[in-house]
Amino acid sequence: MTDIQDLEKLEAEFATAIADAMDEATLEAVRVAALGKKGRVSELMKSLGGMSAEERKTAGPALNGLKDRLTDALATRKAALSEAKLEARLAEEKIDVTLPVRESPAEAGRIHPLSQVMDEVVAIFADMGFAVEQGPDIESDHYNFTSLNFPESHPAREMHDTFYFEPRADGSRLLLRTHTSPVQVRTMERGKPPFRFVCPGRTYRSDSDQTHTPQFHQIEGLVIDETTHMGHLKWVLEEFLRAFFEVEGVELRMRPSFFPFTEPSMEVDVRCARLGNEIRIGEGDDWLEILGCGMVHPNVLKSAGLDPEKYQGFAFGMGLDRIAMLKYGIPDLRAFFESDLRWLRHYGFSVLDVPSLAGGLSS
Ligand code: PHE
Repeated sequence: MTDIQDLEKLEAEFATAIADAMDEATLEAVRVAALGKKGRVSELMKSLGGMSAEERKTAGPALNGLKDRLTDALATRKAALSEAKLEARLAEEKIDVTLPVRESPAEAGRIHPLSQVMDEVVAIFADMGFAVEQGPDIESDHYNFTSLNFPESHPAREMHDTFYFEPRADGSRLLLRTHTSPVQVRTMERGKPPFRFVCPGRTYRSDSDQTHTPQFHQIEGLVIDETTHMGHLKWVLEEFLRAFFEVEGVELRMRPSFFPFTEPSMEVDVRCARLGNEIRIGEGDDWLEILGCGMVHPNVLKSAGLDPEKYQGFAFGMGLDRIAMLKYGIPDLRAFFESDLRWLRHYGFSVLDVPSLAGGLSS
């Protein structure tokens, strides 16, 4: 027969095992060892049958009490373990809803103001029926100067501060194009009139200060047919400037100027107000030079193999960096080329805002 001390020892033993069980499987093994069919407590219960009535009187309640307490302890521990398991899972799956949402690449990326302005300008001219043409950055003296009616050793060649390459075997030197005008003759040579196109692209001159960088951007425009005159030129420029600056009252002024490849030649100013560092287009009493233009010189048409008695038209050239600075209030041109992310985040444009005349150019 088992005496009371033995039962107490057994109870203490199982109580410790229950408290030490750190997972449900271990706890279940303790339960089987105590209360399972062949468990220690179950075996003791079976021995009740072989006892005298007297013995059973004390052993019965003692064993039943032990069984009940162990059953309770097992249930309590089981509940605690499953609670802890749930807590652990919740802790692991926790999300902090106060954390900032990370932007998607399409939202975080920015379009450079210059790319934006190129897209805007092309959208406007495309709407007026202009095609888009391209030419090489590395040019010959012929296309950059001679075909455009720059006489040999004319001071206008020096005016451009040209970057030349080393002379070739025949003594001729390639150069980085100083303007987009060489694309005029290149494109006319390739096709047949009428012509109506723009050409945005990179241009180079040895020059550097707040408003000049050695590499900059221009857009050229050319219209050639049999009847195009200066009235058309003025209309196209007015339409363009109004659409580009997104103000109704853009006013322009044409001043006589000189370019070897146009005759007459003009410089175009827009009316503006200067308020400290700020320039407002379309108001005020100041004028700001914005582009060069003119009627294409007969010698340029001849260079391209066209008969100047039959064909005529206009050309214009505009600094894209300059109009980007004006439209978006960017004070220093050099920042365009510094790849400073802080600057780009401030002046850049959303990737998905594609400029169009119908949808708005810059909104
Ligand atoms: N190519 C000229 C420049 O770079 C601009 C221009 C283009 C002027 C076409 C007249 C006609 O300054």
